[in-house]
Amino acid sequence: MRMIAWLTCCGLFLGAAGATAADDIDGKALFDANCAYCHDRELPRMPSRAGLKEKDPRDIYTAISAGVMAPYARALSHEQRRAVAEYAAGKSLGDFASGAAAIPASAYCKTPPTTPLENIDSGWNGWGNDLANTRRQDVARGGIDRASVARLKLKWAFGVPAVSTMSGHPVVADGRLFFGTFSGLVVALDAESGCALWVFEADGGVRTALTLGKLPDGTISLFFGDLAGNVYAVDPNTGQARWKILADEHPHIRITGTPMHYADRLYVPLSSLEEVAGAMPDYECCTFRGGVLALDAATGAEVWRRHTIAEPPSARGKNAVGTQLWAPSGAAVWTAPTLDPDNNALYIVTGDSYSDPAAPESDAVMALAMDSGEVKWITQTLAGDAYTIACMDPSPEAQVACPESAGPDLDFGSSPVLVTRDDGRRLLLAGQKSGVLFALDPDTGEIQWQTKVGAGGIVGGIEWGFASDTEKAYVAISAAWELGPGAAGGISAVNLADGSLAWQVAPHEGTCEGRERCNTGQLAAVSVVDGLVFSGSLDGHLRAYDTATGTVMWDFDTARTFSTVNGVPARGGAINGPGPAIAQGHVYVNSGYGMWNRWMPGNALIAFSIDGQ
Ligand code: HEC
Repeated sequence: MRMIAWLTCCGLFLGAAGATAADDIDGKALFDANCAYCHDRELPRMPSRAGLKEKDPRDIYTAISAGVMAPYARALSHEQRRAVAEYAAGKSLGDFASGAAAIPASAYCKTPPTTPLENIDSGWNGWGNDLANTRRQDVARGGIDRASVARLKLKWAFGVPAVSTMSGHPVVADGRLFFGTFSGLVVALDAESGCALWVFEADGGVRTALTLGKLPDGTISLFFGDLAGNVYAVDPNTGQARWKILADEHPHIRITGTPMHYADRLYVPLSSLEEVAGAMPDYECCTFRGGVLALDAATGAEVWRRHTIAEPPSARGKNAVGTQLWAPSGAAVWTAPTLDPDNNALYIVTGDSYSDPAAPESDAVMALAMDSGEVKWITQTLAGDAYTIACMDPSPEAQVACPESAGPDLDFGSSPVLVTRDDGRRLLLAGQKSGVLFALDPDTGEIQWQTKVGAGGIVGGIEWGFASDTEKAYVAISAAWELGPGAAGGISAVNLADGSLAWQVAPHEGTCEGRERCNTGQLAAVSVVDGLVFSGSLDGHLRAYDTATGTVMWDFDTARTFSTVNGVPARGGAINGPGPAIAQGHVYVNSGYGMWNRWMPGNALIAFSIDGQ
């Protein structure tokens, strides 16, 4: 029975046309044609049909309109998507307002700033806060140190409508805060009070941080990408789009890593979720190749494009049900590139391959020339890692769509970090889902040392980001897929001199008692302000550790309800994905990550400040 359902699916991507009035639309039929193929199965990463019933219909609407599931509902109209969401959740959407209309008028500032944004480097800019992606803030700009951290208190919270997963890294400059959401909103707030300045509607969910860049003519733009593969430049003062381009013609293109700006160019990392589509036995897996796209930052015009995998995909035999397979594929770039303009170099890390044979460029660290995109060197740290999410399901019908090499899915998901040690020596650090931190020579790609920091796994190991100062790297560990509460997680400091461990904090215990969907894995990117490293956890806690000893100096449990400045009810939950932004005496963090029905959902952006002032 299951076998038949699996093999005869066909409606996918065809969509259904015609109906316009909500009452005439059969949500079940649409679900059966477009969603059941995957969601009738019990795969660990996705909610089953029964699991979807536990969801809020607004979240499902958002997931298929702008979020991770948008590729599977592109052919559906707004009304059809509403019907699918209502059927899948078993609940009515009521008078749900989507998009910017969901932010109440009372959320907007009564007295918005009168001077234009000027100093883009006055707070926390982009993903890593500098071209080297160190995720480090200095005390002067951060305004928080070991002596004052104990006085950090909740200042305000902002509730994001219709999401259960918080995705966008907050960015701060000149008293403004900018962040993106899974529902495709890009929101500008007054960083002090949390009132809204403007809201921009992107075509897809926004998982990247936002990069403020000053162009050679003095214009300041806000750059970001969305899960539909679009890249945008927006006026940070008004929220008006300056330009928008589609980064790649491949139907599975998505932008998950933050675009990097330098001088007159924008460097965009190219990623995809084709390893999900590739799990269908009748999908011709796979043809996407990761890459980097360099754009003219003023116009969005293409300057150069470089695929991570040099060889174009070609036909490579058929799977057990006769579907044509293609390779090489994959090596997506999930995270922000790291820029080294003095050496005309741009560094990226890559994910796994989707089909056999795995490409020599997957699970690798690469250096490209900033001016041309030419490859300078490639260091692969794991060969033969071809994987689709079908590999997670041992049933024979799923295994048809798992490449023979079957993983182990050990991507690089954290941006590489370029550090200059106190002795002047430069190192490029790369952290893999295997739990290993590598230090490479940025000029040659040679590995200088490598350290297994903690347990590896399919959501890390090292997942979304580590941080570094000139002495040590601060590396949080997830292992949340494979290990339970109290066993997953932990954070370590690694000496840049030789890769030895300076200190190691074991996973936190006891915090998941009485909490559903709780784990202690620390997947979220960490941030360092001299003397303190901030790390969020799936158990909802945001903690600050002393960089010298690992001692916990401050701890706030975000898994609670908040009264909000914008009047949208907010709940905190798991902290995952982006890390905290530390700026001007404040710490801003996302809380809530209901992805895969596995972690604690939530929709809060939370601001802390000294004494809550
Ligand atoms: C090719 C398989 C596939 C198809 C088709 C598919 N999904 Fe999914 N769905 C997934 C996977 C896998 C995930 C987990 C997402 C991830 O791993 O990033 C998921 C996640 C979701 C989620 C949770 C998203 C979140 O933010 O937590 C919802 C809701 C959802 N799907 C609804 C749908 C609906 C409705 C359809 C039909 C319009 C659909 N999906 C079609 C595979 C699929």
